[in-house]
Amino acid sequence: MIWKIKRFLNVGSEKRLKEAVKVINDYAMKIIRKRETSSNSDHQDLLSRFIWCDDVKFESRDLNKKRKFLRDIIVSFVLAGKDSTSTALTWFFWVISANPNCITRIYTELTQLPQIRSGVFSYEDLKNLNYLHAAISESLRLFPPVPINSRLTVNDDVLPDGTHVKAGWFADYSAYAIGRTESVWGPDCKEFKPDRWLDKDGVFQPLDQFRFPVFHAGPRICLGKEMGYMQMKSIAASVIYGFEVEAVNGGGDVEKMKNPPYILSLTLKMKGGLPIRLKRRR
Ligand code: HEM
Repeated sequence: MIWKIKRFLNVGSEKRLKEAVKVINDYAMKIIRKRETSSNSDHQDLLSRFIWCDDVKFESRDLNKKRKFLRDIIVSFVLAGKDSTSTALTWFFWVISANPNCITRIYTELTQLPQIRSGVFSYEDLKNLNYLHAAISESLRLFPPVPINSRLTVNDDVLPDGTHVKAGWFADYSAYAIGRTESVWGPDCKEFKPDRWLDKDGVFQPLDQFRFPVFHAGPRICLGKEMGYMQMKSIAASVIYGFEVEAVNGGGDVEKMKNPPYILSLTLKMKGGLPIRLKRRR
């Protein structure tokens, strides 16, 4: 009730929220206008593709409606893609800080790439980093950025295992719990072992998305999964290639892994953040 009254009167936190939403929406609109005025369809990015695609695909030919639709796409991509990847990288650096062998293997993999241009890695380079991909996946398994996901049932239904759900019920699952379940990941499920993702030739083996629902699974699986991996690999590779990274509190050693310093919110934040020391390698 209280927030409804505040919203109606436009005061306090509701007023601040409205102002904050306006800042974000204006920012997104500025990006759209800039793209619209740039010359035609030579932009290959996602937003330009939406802008220049046939208007019929939108429910209405109304330009303002189309702009609002595009604005919501931008905002959802920024929101979905920012905290998720930054949370994932925070835990990743925390875990590897206490696993020097893992850092050495990532660094060796980087130095073995055919051509490194001053610590900047191309798309092709990043695709070939199997061990890094495995280490990031292993860290995501233990520290999924979206630890709990919920669905609200619209109608009465029966789940495949025979469970009855009523309209209005919530159905939740925890990717955090699944990642630490012995029957799913084996007796060493609480240990950080990137090798579990690699075959005997060191090639990354993707696993069943329902066993690893960190990006959700099924038809509504994360649209930015591949992009997210590329962003995380690109940052991890550049940092590890250029610097020795040391977590000030020692990172995720065996003891701390038993009771990790997380704060449960929409994303799995690290309590107190991650203070680190960086030392240039060269
Ligand atoms: C580590 C990185 C990421 C993780 C763990 C992650 C996780 C997830 C999860 C769990 C969902 C399902 C949410 C739900 O339906 O309840 C989701 C959806 C989505 N994600 Fe990601 N995400 C990541 C990165 C990204 C990036 C980089 C982008 C875009 C640039 C992105 C865009 C989206 C979009 C658009 C959806 C909605 C898909 C739909 O509803 O059909 N995500 N993500």
